[in-house]
Amino acid sequence: MTTESIAIYWIEGDGIGPEIWNVTRPVLDAVVAREFNGTRRLEWKELLAGEKAVKETGSPLPEATLEALSTATLAMKGPLGTPVGGGIRSLNVALRHALDLYTCIRPIQHYGNLKTPVRHPERINIVVFRENTEDVYFGPEYPAGSVEAMRLIELLHDMGCDVLPSAGIGIKSISPQNTKRLVRKAIRFALNNNLPSVTLMHKGNIMKYTEGAFRKWGYELAEEEFSDVICTESNPQEGKLLIKDRIADAMFQEVLLHPENYHVIATSNLNGDYISDALAAEVGGLGIAPGVNMSDTLAFYESIHGTAPNIAGKDKANPCSLLLCGVMLFTHLGWHGAANRLRNALEATLSAGLVTEDLASNMINAKILGCKAFGEAVAERI
Ligand code: NAI
Repeated sequence: MTTESIAIYWIEGDGIGPEIWNVTRPVLDAVVAREFNGTRRLEWKELLAGEKAVKETGSPLPEATLEALSTATLAMKGPLGTPVGGGIRSLNVALRHALDLYTCIRPIQHYGNLKTPVRHPERINIVVFRENTEDVYFGPEYPAGSVEAMRLIELLHDMGCDVLPSAGIGIKSISPQNTKRLVRKAIRFALNNNLPSVTLMHKGNIMKYTEGAFRKWGYELAEEEFSDVICTESNPQEGKLLIKDRIADAMFQEVLLHPENYHVIATSNLNGDYISDALAAEVGGLGIAPGVNMSDTLAFYESIHGTAPNIAGKDKANPCSLLLCGVMLFTHLGWHGAANRLRNALEATLSAGLVTEDLASNMINAKILGCKAFGEAVAERI
């Protein structure tokens, strides 16, 4: 019997990273073993980043990590910590930039019969496509009083803009190329999965030449490349993919009041960051939403939550987000049986009322499990 090995690089992550990893990896291996009877296996190759990398190499993002990832096709990571208000910008942003991981995909839906903060979480089944490489989230930022901030403020004054000399400065840039490649991915995904709509989410009424341009270029791309198969709200057509747009603030109301009207959201970097956390809260919280950052060659899976320092090391973390990254990974590989097996095991565990503490607050009769015991409960149901 020959065994096909699929190489996956992994980064353990900071905070709750090691705990959710210790649960996720054996579960994914068990799913593959059950599904393929030894003919396929996952070959995990560890890379260093974050605190562990600093301890072992002195650098939070060693060159060897970037080098390995630059030719990789699959990787998975736990959360990496980022200091607020100073220090390095963000390891996550650095990775996305260095590897041109331009599309962040976050599918958010309701699992099991979890009780959540909203009355009808089952209406939420939305995939967020977030642009990952520009916007104010990525653009250069200079502290108040720095030479760079002062120079920019002087230039802005020359251009007739009134910016206080004491201000910190951040730059928001949004380009047609990066908008279009993101929107292309979102539309292709909706078409491949027979979904009814793609919504361009933007704040273009106020930021006309960045967010407004995102909307304009999004519609342009849809018309240029998909004109035969799409329609718009001004001319709806049966059987065609509806491309619509919503202003960002109204979008937050929409995902609470009418989430069933939204299937794919394509949006800029910061909007995507905010809306995906809000959607995750509607289905139970950050612990239950997975994600992938994609370039044209690499799929890099990660939980959408952070390092959760308040619960790190206490065996309280919810590993669902990383486990659901496994479902996404198996689907990406075309291993649909493995994806279903893992999803079903997870749903069965949640439906039995077995949850980690973060999911229990809205539930009556939930049995609260630690991170490790929750992983064992999922493994039993594989
Ligand atoms: P966070 O997502 O770590 O935590 C926010 C809240 O959600 C906390 O109450 C936490 O306990 C809870 N939570 C998050 N994940 C959970 C899980 N799996 N199970 C149970 N509860 C969970 O966000 P926060 O506190 O703003 O950020 C902490 C650090 O993480 C920061 O350094 C931040 O930059 C970083 N971060 C990293 C991300 C990544 O690596 N992709 C994403 C978001 C934040």
